[in-house]
Amino acid sequence: MAERPYIVGNWKMNGTRAMLSQARAIDRAAQNLMKVEVALAPPYTLIHPVHREAEQIGVGAQDCHAGNEGAHTGDISAGMVADAGAKFVILGHSERRQDHGESNALVSVKGAAALEAGMRVILCVGESEETRDAGKAENFVTRQLKASIPESLDNPEESLTVAYEPIWAIGTGRTPTVDDIGAMHRAIRATLVERFGEEGGAQVRILYGGSVNPDNARELLAADEVGGALVGGASLTAESFLGIVIAAAELQDQPA
Ligand code: PGA
Repeated sequence: MAERPYIVGNWKMNGTRAMLSQARAIDRAAQNLMKVEVALAPPYTLIHPVHREAEQIGVGAQDCHAGNEGAHTGDISAGMVADAGAKFVILGHSERRQDHGESNALVSVKGAAALEAGMRVILCVGESEETRDAGKAENFVTRQLKASIPESLDNPEESLTVAYEPIWAIGTGRTPTVDDIGAMHRAIRATLVERFGEEGGAQVRILYGGSVNPDNARELLAADEVGGALVGGASLTAESFLGIVIAAAELQDQPA
């Protein structure tokens, strides 16, 4: 696992102000688990309230528009989420790609907007079950990654995290084998090194996402080149999310 693992909760379209107590509990516990970098991406409506609660954890958005401002009813710009307290944006999540037809090109320009607004980007990639069964997963994911990275990005160690999330593992309780995760993360690493050079490419954390829970976290986080986790369902309560954070902290304590 990376020097300091990164565990990010993606609340998706869940959460009202009643959930702020969960965010507070996560934040307080994270203050005693400093070996792990902990963050939450609540829905837009809770970014500022969670930001106000957070003394330790990072707060981010789950998406942003590619433009700065203007006549885009219902959309939210990168500058707006940054103003609300977001320090990063999750982009290219498969639910955005599927539900909103987001292309790699759009994800890439959204990333440029997020960087411009001074935020970090967590870029999601992942293959469908069909693509995996056809033996084309690594090829698909590495091409998706190359085409989704913002062209303007030149300091990857500071501004980029990649999240590998096989679509068939999201919310299903199914996960790839540790060997398959390791193989995919090595392929992603090679792509990052190709794009950013040895030094820059080596420092980007690559998260695994898809049905991570407190019971499987230890095993998944120990896979080759896994620098943390992007967690959906299990991030909705402090208890289960902290179970994952604690697993990451315990792995840090283990001799390599
Ligand atoms: P899950 O979602 O943990 O509920 O599978 C992960 C994600 O979509 O980021």
